[in-house]
Amino acid sequence: MADQEPTGRFLRACQGLPTDVTPIWLMRQAGRYMAEYRKLRESYGILEIIKKPELACEVTLQPINAFDLDAAIIFADILPPLEGMGLSLEFVKGEGPVIHNPIRSAADVEALKTPPPEESLDFTLEAIKLARLELDQREIPLIGFSGAPFTLACYAIEGGSSKNFRYAKGLMMGESAVWHQMMAKFSVVVGRYLLAQARAGAQVLQLFDSWVGALSPADYRQMAMPYTQQAIAIARQAGVPIIHFGTNTNGMLELIREAGGDVIGVDWRIDLEVAWRRLGTNIPIQGNLDPVALFAPWPDLKVRAQYVLDQANGRPGHIFNLGHGILPQTPVDNVRRLIDFVHEYRR
Ligand code: CP3
Repeated sequence: MADQEPTGRFLRACQGLPTDVTPIWLMRQAGRYMAEYRKLRESYGILEIIKKPELACEVTLQPINAFDLDAAIIFADILPPLEGMGLSLEFVKGEGPVIHNPIRSAADVEALKTPPPEESLDFTLEAIKLARLELDQREIPLIGFSGAPFTLACYAIEGGSSKNFRYAKGLMMGESAVWHQMMAKFSVVVGRYLLAQARAGAQVLQLFDSWVGALSPADYRQMAMPYTQQAIAIARQAGVPIIHFGTNTNGMLELIREAGGDVIGVDWRIDLEVAWRRLGTNIPIQGNLDPVALFAPWPDLKVRAQYVLDQANGRPGHIFNLGHGILPQTPVDNVRRLIDFVHEYRR
C-alpha cells in the first residue's frame, strides 16, 4: 500500500483512516436510472459502450458530473472476461446476459483459454487511462473491478442468470476435479485482470462475488474461497486496496474475510454493527442500504440512511454504499439527496 497517507476520503476510508465525513459511492452508479445513460444506449449496445474507451470513459463520468460522489467506478461489466476465455456473450434486450456456449463438460473446461488481459480486455484498460485523466483534475479516485471466480463460473456454466444454479452446482458437486480445474483458470483470469486495471490506473479494486451466498459455508471454503484467495494474491502485487463484496454472506462472513480483501462489502441482510463484531473492528466495511429504499419517499429513505450511519457510529473505515447495485428507475432526486445527506450527517 502507499507509503504516504492518502488525503481523499474514499482512499482514507479504504485504509481505515478517519475522514471528515463518510465517503459514499453507489454500486452500478452509471446506468439506466440516469437519463444521460439511457440516451447513449439509444445509439449503442452495452458491449459497444464497454469496448469503445471514449464512451466507457464518458459513462464513467456521468454520475460524477451529476452527483457529489467520492469515487468513480470504471464503466464495464463482470462478463466481458468470459469472451477472451472463448465464450460467446450477448446482452439480450429484456433478458440480460446470455452465454451461447456455456461450460457443461470436461472438454469445455479444457478448451477454456486464459489470455492476458492486455490482449482480451484492452478496451477497459484504455478506458481506465482516459478516465484517470479526467478524474485526476477533480481529485476523484477510480475503482477497477472484476467478478470473483465463483460468480463468473456461475454465469459461464448456467449460460446466464439463474435462480438455483442447478448446472453450476451440479458440476461442483458431481465433478469436483473438473470444477477445480475450471476454477483455477478463472482465478488466473480474474487476478491478472485486476492487476492490469491497477497498473492502468485504477486506485482501488473491487471483487464482486454477487452469487456467493448461494453456497453453503463448507462448499464456499472448499470450492470457491481458494480461488478468490488466488485471484487476490495476484492482484495484491499492485499494492492498491481491494474491496471484497458479496451478497447473502451472513453464513460465511468470517470466511469472506479469510478469503482476503482490505475492505469487506456487505448487503442489508446484516446490521453493520453485527458485521463489525464478526469481522473485527479494524477492517473497513462498505455498505449497506437496501437499493429498494431509494424508491421510498425522502423522509423514509432518510430514516433508513441514518440507520446505516448510526450503525457505523462514526467508526473510521465506513464507506457508505448500497447493499447491491442501484436499480433501473431509481428516482434521481433521491440519489442526490442520499449522497448529500451522507456528507452533511454529523456524527
Ligand atoms: O457500477 C458501475 O456503474 C459500473 C458498471 C457495472 C455494470 N455491471 C454495468 C452494467 C458493474 C460494476 C457491473 C457489475 C455486474 N454485472 C455484476 C455484479 C454486481 C451485481 O449487481 O451483482 C453482475 C452480476 C453483472 C452482470 C450483468 N450485467 C447482468 C445480470 C446484467 C443485466 C441485468 C441488469 O442489471 O441490467 C448486466 C447489464 C449491465 N451491466 C447494465 C449496466 C449498466 C445494464 C445494461 C443496459 O444498459 O441495458
